[in-house]
Amino acid sequence: MIELRDFVDGDVHDLFRWRREPEVDRWMYELPPEQFAGHQQWFDGLRADPRRRGWIIELNGQPCGALTLVGISPTQRRAQWGWYIGEADARGRGAGRAAQALGLDRAFAEYDLHKVWSEVPAGHETALKAQAAAGFRREGYLRRHAFKHGEFRDVVLMAILADEWAVRREAVRSELVKSGMITG
Ligand SMILES: CC(C)(COP(=O)(O)OP(=O)(O)OC[C@H]1O[C@@H](n2cnc3c(N)ncnc32)[C@H](O)[C@@H]1OP(=O)(O)O)[C@@H](O)C(=O)NCCC(=O)NCCS
Repeated sequence: MIELRDFVDGDVHDLFRWRREPEVDRWMYELPPEQFAGHQQWFDGLRADPRRRGWIIELNGQPCGALTLVGISPTQRRAQWGWYIGEADARGRGAGRAAQALGLDRAFAEYDLHKVWSEVPAGHETALKAQAAAGFRREGYLRRHAFKHGEFRDVVLMAILADEWAVRREAVRSELVKSGMITG
């Protein structure tokens, strides 16, 4: 069973560990935080910033990952999506897709957004497939857009509009309810 909840003070430790985990770091543009103090600053900054929001993804009551919205713009009514399943044994079991459905509901309902968009490293088929399953569509392709460990990487722009999610959500949610991933 997947649920989302707000960040609490102690989550900073799980987030630090997850962000440094190789499979998570592999798909991030920036280098992982080396010092805990810098990470704590990021965590405090996010929680104090009305243009950013984070949730912990829980699998059967245990924290397993995080979902973030950044660049929340009340005037443009859009925000950028970010997510990861930090616990290795929780990946590849549908937790990401279930959290995604819950997160899209929160994003569109709580922030009155009209669009949620994301940047996905080209070749990250798990993320691209998962996002497409919720109705994200490919909007662009940014060549050599990110630079890490001495290499440029291409990035796929994905996005979903509020009315697209409204059409899709019932089907996505009912599958997840049927498989016991979320409550009805
Ligand atoms: C990308 C990420 C968030 C996706 O979350 P996830 O839980 O691993 O992915 P899904 O929920 O889509 O599940 C992946 C696989 O499990 C399958 N699956 C879905 N629901 C399932 C269920 N109920 N039971 C079993 N398997 C299921 C999916 O079909 C998918 O398989 P496929 O890719 O062969 O089609 C996660 O893999 C991750 O955090 N990766 C590292 C960090 C990262 O890449 N972040 C995103 C950067 S853009």
